[in-house]
Amino acid sequence: MHRRDFIARSSAALAGLMVPDILKAESPVPAKKNESDGRIRVGLIGCRSMGWGDYAEFFKFPEADCVALCDIDEGVLQKRAADFEDKTGKKPKLFSDYRKMLADKDIDAVVIGTPDHWHCLMTCDALAAGKHVYVEKPLANTIAECEIMEAYAQHYGKVVQVGQQQRSGLIWQEMKKYLDSGRLGRIAKVNVWANFQYASILEAAPDCPPPAGVDFDMWLGPAPQRTFNPKRFHGSWRMFWDYGGGLVTDWGVHLLDMALWGMNTASMPRRVMASGGNFAYPRNVAETFDTLSVIWEYDDFSIQWSNVAAAEAGPYGKAYGLEFCGTEGMLVANRDGWEVIPGKGSKLEPASFQPDHKDRTNHVGNFLECIRTGRLNTACTMQNGSFCAKFAHLGNIAARTRSVLTYDPATHSFGNAEADRLLKPEYRAPWQFPKI
Ligand SMILES: NC(=O)c1ccc[n+]([C@@H]2O[C@H](COP(=O)([O-])OP(=O)(O)OC[C@H]3O[C@@H](n4cnc5c(N)ncnc54)[C@H](O)[C@@H]3O)[C@@H](O)[C@H]2O)c1
Repeated sequence: MHRRDFIARSSAALAGLMVPDILKAESPVPAKKNESDGRIRVGLIGCRSMGWGDYAEFFKFPEADCVALCDIDEGVLQKRAADFEDKTGKKPKLFSDYRKMLADKDIDAVVIGTPDHWHCLMTCDALAAGKHVYVEKPLANTIAECEIMEAYAQHYGKVVQVGQQQRSGLIWQEMKKYLDSGRLGRIAKVNVWANFQYASILEAAPDCPPPAGVDFDMWLGPAPQRTFNPKRFHGSWRMFWDYGGGLVTDWGVHLLDMALWGMNTASMPRRVMASGGNFAYPRNVAETFDTLSVIWEYDDFSIQWSNVAAAEAGPYGKAYGLEFCGTEGMLVANRDGWEVIPGKGSKLEPASFQPDHKDRTNHVGNFLECIRTGRLNTACTMQNGSFCAKFAHLGNIAARTRSVLTYDPATHSFGNAEADRLLKPEYRAPWQFPKI
């Protein structure tokens, strides 16, 4: 039998959430079908890459009415406005300040496809404005942000889907069923790895003025003030601590989510140990680690992470994946499929499963269905996304502080001053950390 833990939900009494007046709906708004024409009007915040990819899925559903785009880069905004018109023959409403989009009472739900350092503020503001939220993963860039987002979701009762779309994929659901059957025996360890070169930045660039049409101050938002640098901007921001957490929070949350889901665990590990550095490329411009190993230790199993952002290869010929190590055999998985490899002398039958590549379509469909039916238990809830993001951040914090850590969710502390300083970001004025 595997270890089985159950989700502990915060039951903190929540009162008086501090939100700007402009964003206040007649809150708290119950999650129920409240759209007058039966269609759900959806806006997109952050249009360049994944946000647009998500939004393109919404176009496939007749119950979704895609109506508005928001971006701080005028070039991106105009390009996506043209793409929108090509798809629909209609012009979207355009915004450069997400708070104005949130103040639009015609919008029922928003997709948040901005860099990670923006997820918390935008999600909290959107919930307070009465919107349902599809927010990209990782849920947030720090543990404290994840925790306040959970509090907001609980308080406002709107539908939240976190963009860990693998939870909606048949391949992963079948993998979970297989693991839950117990056939693999006792699972002692899950190995998770992702070796992607994009997480190393090999050439530096000088600071310079931001490109025309970019509101860089609004891109930075709550992150520390600094001059523009093209290597810390679109796409590559994820390799700088102020905006992202490198491979373990980028690819990692998808795969770690499957490890945690497969092990049915939602409690914090007993200890976290890690080692990280730019060992593959000593002159790596990235702050996050091109080489990282993490061990999250539970009472009777461990989850282990490895990334080397250099050669795109890895165990079983896979650049990324996860391996559940059971007493009867191994289950090896990635988005191309999974297979069971019986151990020596085991009576376990080999098994395998191929993907249908509908994870994201299903995930968006599930979000819309939850809004239509007033259900809050989306395929990847706020709690699911929060737990997995916090779990990944633990690895980075252990590596950055070179400490063996135990996080206590009750006291919100590691009991280690250096590590505790990495729990919560200092928001740059005038932005304020959402408050209870
Ligand atoms: N679920 C997945 O499989 C998956 C895959 C890739 C990325 N992601 C996630 O999607 C998010 C976006 O990643 P990306 O690769 O698309 O990044 P990106 O840099 O390509 O795009 C981010 C966009 O957000 C815009 N933006 C930044 N600040 C803004 C603001 N204040 N208001 C409005 N727009 C703003 C930028 O101008 C840019 O257009 C990240 O959280 C990332 O982790 C998820």
